[in-house]
Amino acid sequence: MRISAYFVLLFCSLILAGCDRETPPEKMTAGEDIYGYYCKNCHENKGPGANMERFAGKQPMKPYKIILMIKYGFNQDSHSMPLFDQLSEEQADAVARYVVSLQMEHINR
Ligand code: HEC
Repeated sequence: MRISAYFVLLFCSLILAGCDRETPPEKMTAGEDIYGYYCKNCHENKGPGANMERFAGKQPMKPYKIILMIKYGFNQDSHSMPLFDQLSEEQADAVARYVVSLQMEHINR
């Protein structure tokens, strides 16, 4: 009896530990998560800053431009970014909107 209770506990804690694991990137829906997974690190090191604080433009970008840029490689010539064609339409839209919100935070000051 004791032992089986122990196993039940062990089993439950394994399930809980499993839940703790991060959502795999292909299942992410929040722009913030997608940005954190694919974009943030690189921007922090050599781009416009982790939160776009070194973003050069004066106007926040239009989300559709960001979507074209990251998902379809639009204007790839002037950007040293990889393509993210693995993003779904919804994910590209969510991350683009999140990036615009970051840009606005740093522009409207
Ligand atoms: C390999 C590094 C890298 C990754 C990964 C990356 N970026 Fe960038 N990003 C850059 C750099 C560097 C710039 C500065 C301009 C340039 O050289 O393209 C930039 C600029 C930008 C800009 C500003 C564009 C402009 O016209 O000024 C946007 C928007 C952007 N990134 C979005 C994203 C999004 C969204 C992701 C993730 C899906 C992402 N980036 C992932 C390196 C990266």
